Amino acid sequence: MFVQDSIVDVRGLYKSYLDGTEQVRVLSDLSFSIAHGQSMALMGPSGSGKSTLINILSGIESADDGDIRLFGESAAKKDTDWWSGLRGTRIATVFQNDNLMPTLSLGDNIRLRAQLAGRTKVAVEHWLTTLGLATLGHRFPDQVSGGQRQRAAMAMAFAMLPGLLLADEPTASLDGATARQVADALFHHQHETGCPMLLSTHDPALAARCDFTLVLSSLGAQ
Ligand SMILES: Nc1ncnc2c1ncn2[C@@H]1O[C@H](COP(=O)(O)OP(=O)(O)OP(=O)(O)O)[C@@H](O)[C@H]1O
Ligand SMILES: [Mg+2]
Repeated sequence: MFVQDSIVDVRGLYKSYLDGTEQVRVLSDLSFSIAHGQSMALMGPSGSGKSTLINILSGIESADDGDIRLFGESAAKKDTDWWSGLRGTRIATVFQNDNLMPTLSLGDNIRLRAQLAGRTKVAVEHWLTTLGLATLGHRFPDQVSGGQRQRAAMAMAFAMLPGLLLADEPTASLDGATARQVADALFHHQHETGCPMLLSTHDPALAARCDFTLVLSSLGAQ
């Protein structure tokens, strides 16, 4: 049964990949829901399916079986336009490898992403400052560090003013102090906006700040 008022509701989700001729199961009978204002940590060993689940909830990959509801609407039988519409405007995804446009400065990346989501007034400087990038807005992605790119990707996600934030290991490539700064920015953003979050992480400290944690196991390795 679906949980009322949840932004994300997943029931009985299955996903396998074909490895040669063998089906390798990654997600098995997964169910959870995330309501407005809630944050869920997604933990589990490398290869347990965290990125796979985030890709499925972004509509980049499809599940083999199970029901997904997003913003109260069933994803069953929806076409790629429906998914790209959600991804463009309501679901902000920060992937493990950021997808900044290499030919645009960090500031212009943030502006463009928000404008594509239909935001006319974009507080680029505000979002840069929020992520500790106040002086780097003019630089291009190849002129900053991996952690700075990751933070710029987060700023792009915030600037969309999304209804759901999915972040795949948002603090993974950051030093302790910067990881805390990014985590603070995430939870402050959630406190201010109520935007529900799903954060995959190997960091127990980040998971402990979330409302609840879903732990995936390595099915393929068993
Ligand atoms: N396109 C694909 N084809 C085949 N197997 C895949 C594909 N994508 C992922 N896998 C496999 O699915 C499993 C889950 O991968 P996934 O990237 O979701 O793990 P993860 O939990 O995010 O790991 P990590 O912590 O290392 O990021 C892995 O065994 C991976 O090799
Ligand atoms: Mg991953």
